[in-house]
Amino acid sequence: MKIFAETERLILREIAESDEEGLFRLDSNPEVHRYLGNNPVKEKSQIREVIKFIRQQYTDFGIGRWAVIEKESGNFIGWCGMKYINEETNGHINFHDIGYRLIQEYWGKGYATESAKAALAYAFREMKLTDIYGMSHVENQGSINVLTKLGLQITGTFEDNGLLINFHHLSGKHWENSFSSLKPFH
Ligand SMILES: CC(C)(COP(=O)(O)OP(=O)(O)OC[C@H]1O[C@@H](n2cnc3c(N)ncnc32)[C@H](O)[C@@H]1OP(=O)(O)O)[C@@H](O)C(=O)NCCC(=O)NCCS
Repeated sequence: MKIFAETERLILREIAESDEEGLFRLDSNPEVHRYLGNNPVKEKSQIREVIKFIRQQYTDFGIGRWAVIEKESGNFIGWCGMKYINEETNGHINFHDIGYRLIQEYWGKGYATESAKAALAYAFREMKLTDIYGMSHVENQGSINVLTKLGLQITGTFEDNGLLINFHHLSGKHWENSFSSLKPFH
């Protein structure tokens, strides 16, 4: 299985069919979906579609969300990283969105920030992207904090399926100048 990055406490690797159980645990929890439209997954078949979608992104765009593995336990704890968005969103199209979603027992340990820092470094240094975007529900303070700590600034808000969403942006230039030293690996 391809490993994309490693941090002090985490391994970031490709998502595989074998992650079905972990992803189901993640996405069937209503708390996880509190700011994501309150529509947790009910069936494993939905997870199989998610895995198929992510793996298709690897093929089509060379990137997609990564599995996050806790080194100490070897456990799958969620996902993090880039999604290529090729449908118009808040007036933007064909851009890279950084995101993360962790199983609830792993919240509050700094894992979202740690994994997302590595994903940004990969995006700017390895993929040579010039801009990264992010989205957060306006009440999802945990996620807003993560994106802000990474250097993504809120550029506006928009409505998506009745939810009010912040749109965040970080340029590669700004990251190189101000945030690249936060990189937790290499
Ligand atoms: C959002 C999420 C990824 C945060 O993960 P995490 O590993 O707990 O985040 P971190 O530990 O890296 O913490 C990030 C910062 O936010 C703060 N924070 C975390 N949850 C918070 C909350 N509910 N309210 C306020 N602050 C919060 C932390 O204290 C930390 O700040 P600090 O470093 O200044 O102390 C996690 O809660 C999650 O998976 N939620 C469900 C899915 C989701 O909402 N994903 C994001 C969609 S945009």
